[in-house]
Amino acid sequence: MAYRHFESVEKHAWMLGILTAVMVSLGGLAEILPTFVEATRVKLAAGGKPYDPLRLAGRDIYVREGCYLCHSQMIRALRFETQRYGRFSTAEESVYDRPFQWGSKRTGPDLARVGGKYSDDWQRVHLMDPRAVVPQSNMPAYPWLATARIDGADIAARMRTLRRLGDPYTDADIAAAMSVDGRTELDALVAYLQGLGLANGPQPAQAGAAAAAPVARTSP
Ligand code: HEC
Repeated sequence: MAYRHFESVEKHAWMLGILTAVMVSLGGLAEILPTFVEATRVKLAAGGKPYDPLRLAGRDIYVREGCYLCHSQMIRALRFETQRYGRFSTAEESVYDRPFQWGSKRTGPDLARVGGKYSDDWQRVHLMDPRAVVPQSNMPAYPWLATARIDGADIAARMRTLRRLGDPYTDADIAAAMSVDGRTELDALVAYLQGLGLANGPQPAQAGAAAAAPVARTSP
């Protein structure tokens, strides 16, 4: 009996089409509705601030250079992930990320909590010439970052736009953007990387994870 019902559905393309659309819509709703409820529940951790001018410039360079093509910023709530990278990522950590950099492509390691893992010097050398510190690395070198300069007025304009979108920048924060005028893109990108995972204060579980991790590399 049941088989006959299936047959009548499968032999009528329009019926199969409509029922498939109904089922796909139900599945879609089940995935989408909870995210609307979640979005209203996302609260900033105490001390969470929007990017300062230098880190904001660095973030834009990260996006421009396509670092996300090889690096995710999303630690999943799975034991082997948290043991390697630290506490799993949460929604409130990406409140000021437009667009977010979660990703799933990992040619290189996840960077969500790379802030403070290496020294500034290590990060600078690594970006200029990855193989100088990690001989087997296949990460590209980004030598032009050391000479390209940041335009403070441009960063101030970006901050004004973000304020219109809801980021709580004050006039004083925006005026401070001129203080980064003339810094190199390398300075900005390193500042951005060194803040990853630390923007909402150090994560308690992270300190333990870092202490437990074997020290594989040292600063130059
Ligand atoms: C073609 C893929 C690729 C691209 C593009 C790429 N990386 Fe990497 N990255 C890697 C690989 C592979 C490693 C691991 C080897 C190493 O440390 O160099 C790595 C390592 C790193 C590390 C060290 C992470 C750790 O925990 O040890 C940082 C930081 C980093 N990359 C930043 C960047 C930034 C910033 C950009 C963009 C300017 C970038 N990467 C672009 C592949 C890439």
